[in-house]
Amino acid sequence: MDTKLQAPTSIVLFGGTGDLSINMLFPALFDLYAHDTLPHDTQVFVYAHTDITTEIMRERVREKILHTHSSKILEYFLEQVHYIQGSFDTPDGYARLKEEMDKRDGDVCSNKLFYLSVPPRFFDTVFEGLRAVNLHEHCDKDFGWTRLLVEKPFGHSLESAKKLEAVLHTTFEQDQVFHVDHYLCKDMVRNMISFRFSNTLFEPLWNKEYIEKIVIKMHESKDVSTRGAFYDQVGAFRDVGQNHMLEMLSFVAMERPRSLSPKDIQQARAAVVDNMIFKGEHTIRAQYEGYNETPGVAPGSQTETFFKIHACIANERWKGVPIEFSAGKGLGETEAVMQVVFKSTPCLCVEKGDGHKHENVLTFSLKPQEEITLGVWTKVPGIKDYLQERVLHLPYANTEGVAVKGAYSKVFYDAIRGDQTLFKGQEEIYAGWAFADKVLEGLREKTLINYKLGETPT
Ligand code: BG6
Repeated sequence: MDTKLQAPTSIVLFGGTGDLSINMLFPALFDLYAHDTLPHDTQVFVYAHTDITTEIMRERVREKILHTHSSKILEYFLEQVHYIQGSFDTPDGYARLKEEMDKRDGDVCSNKLFYLSVPPRFFDTVFEGLRAVNLHEHCDKDFGWTRLLVEKPFGHSLESAKKLEAVLHTTFEQDQVFHVDHYLCKDMVRNMISFRFSNTLFEPLWNKEYIEKIVIKMHESKDVSTRGAFYDQVGAFRDVGQNHMLEMLSFVAMERPRSLSPKDIQQARAAVVDNMIFKGEHTIRAQYEGYNETPGVAPGSQTETFFKIHACIANERWKGVPIEFSAGKGLGETEAVMQVVFKSTPCLCVEKGDGHKHENVLTFSLKPQEEITLGVWTKVPGIKDYLQERVLHLPYANTEGVAVKGAYSKVFYDAIRGDQTLFKGQEEIYAGWAFADKVLEGLREKTLINYKLGETPT
């Protein structure tokens, strides 16, 4: 293990009994633990209002992880998990947290990672609680760190995002705050930098001269399920369009960053989003039938569960190239892709009369499986000279020999190392909302159409 990471580390999960924590954060932490990639002596403290004990919390984590891992390592891991009951808005919970931290630290000062897996309306209250017991400041002036991880949504408009940032910075410095968008940490998304800038084959063609359009899709066949109350407030575009999909596009479309430094990469991503222009034509806003009966959804809700929009990027490289985004729930397929469609070339071939344009389509797929495919045109074997499309296929999910995988493992791994590359910068957040505000206005103008569960609107 990296010798720098010998310092004891305390991870505090605010709202740590929720779905995100059980389904994503704990499996990720355990994965790091099982591969000896967490700092030596890492303790995890769950802070939530539910009245349960440490044993019950451990049992919930055990239930989630046990079927995939040997019980021995899991039991060692669970010994490092502790539960602290407390509400966000009363001081006694924070006092208990402080007491636990002091007990844990003794005469050393552990590094502290606070993970806010709570709705943003509680941020202010949590900070107040932390300030009251002086946990917002690092306990050692000269050594170690205290950091804050925050989950999306980072506001619901540009204005609210600015207010939220102001709240965050009442208590923490810029370099202490890590804005999580787990799509930035997905392997296939990160792979765009390696793929684009390490293969001579594509980068010279990566521009308006050769590219017909870019398509970013996040189609999910599962419905809103138990998340009705949250989803109804945000809708499909705020849920994944304003964040995950913009991140996917920014990696596809960014200029070559000056270096691999966090600042250069964040700036290169932000520049893409900053130049985005929403095109109102061909917008679709739709809701699946039966959505209104989902628990937590307001009667007669007009929230979209599917959208399709078009945009373009106003810069030299991409001027005039259409970008198509579509995403939603309860659709006919589960598909998350970044697709680059190249312009067709006049072929020297026998036309079959099917009007096919002979485009090459390069697809980076995250779902249903991780793979890269490239459609190329070849002659049909045999005595005829017709063209056919064949697909070059690079399975990416073959992770044999890969130790730690998963986006949230990367979130913790980088945050603990203080690397902000795969977290959203403030500039990026504001650029994203400036674009999103226009999209949301455009969506509001569109009549909501209905679609059947299991069908994708066109
Ligand atoms: C979340 C959205 O941020 O991302 C969910 O709130 C969505 O609605 C999820 O299903 C998709 O993430 P993943 O990692 O399952 O592709």
